[in-house]
Amino acid sequence: MATLAFKFEEITPRELKPELYELDGISRATIEAHYKLYEGYVNKRNEILQKLDDVDTANANQVYSDIRALKVDLTFAIGGIKNHEIYFEHLGGGGGDPDGIIGDLIERDFGSFQAWRSDLKATGMAGRGWGWTAYDWDERRLFNYIGDAQNTFPVWNATPIVALDVYEHAYFLDFGTDRAAYIEAFFNNLDYDVVNDWVNQYGIKK
Ligand SMILES: [Fe+2]
Repeated sequence: MATLAFKFEEITPRELKPELYELDGISRATIEAHYKLYEGYVNKRNEILQKLDDVDTANANQVYSDIRALKVDLTFAIGGIKNHEIYFEHLGGGGGDPDGIIGDLIERDFGSFQAWRSDLKATGMAGRGWGWTAYDWDERRLFNYIGDAQNTFPVWNATPIVALDVYEHAYFLDFGTDRAAYIEAFFNNLDYDVVNDWVNQYGIKK
């Protein structure tokens, strides 16, 4: 039985842009640690889709438990891909105050740049794996969401535009246990031009 309704295509890891190896406060070794995990998620995603395609129908109960395990693991792999692709893409900039439409949206939805930054920082300190600024299409506003793992806790119809990785591999090499210092470095390396490109590309309006 083929469980997939379409023929899936394998994907390959995106290449890192050179700026990522010259971040302020976040080392090359740390970026390489993220990348290694990211490559693993890409391979895992391809492998799981292949396994789903190969699920054997001989034992019905086994089929359901296999499908369950594979589909749950797939969300973890895909989360690890998407989260890291945002993370890699929007680092390499000079931080500072956000300008353009993202600056206006932040001001409108959080009151000020500082308020947004403090809230995302607190979310990152409180989460086990991720904090995201995402645009909720139903509420038509930005909100800082929390994640414990690659696949928790997504909200339907919300699109992440900032992804703060707070897994230990993101900061331990450079900052030891000082996650707060790492989060400051994260803000200092954000590229708001990239974030503004996404806001425009997605059609998020003020
Ligand atoms: Fe990571």
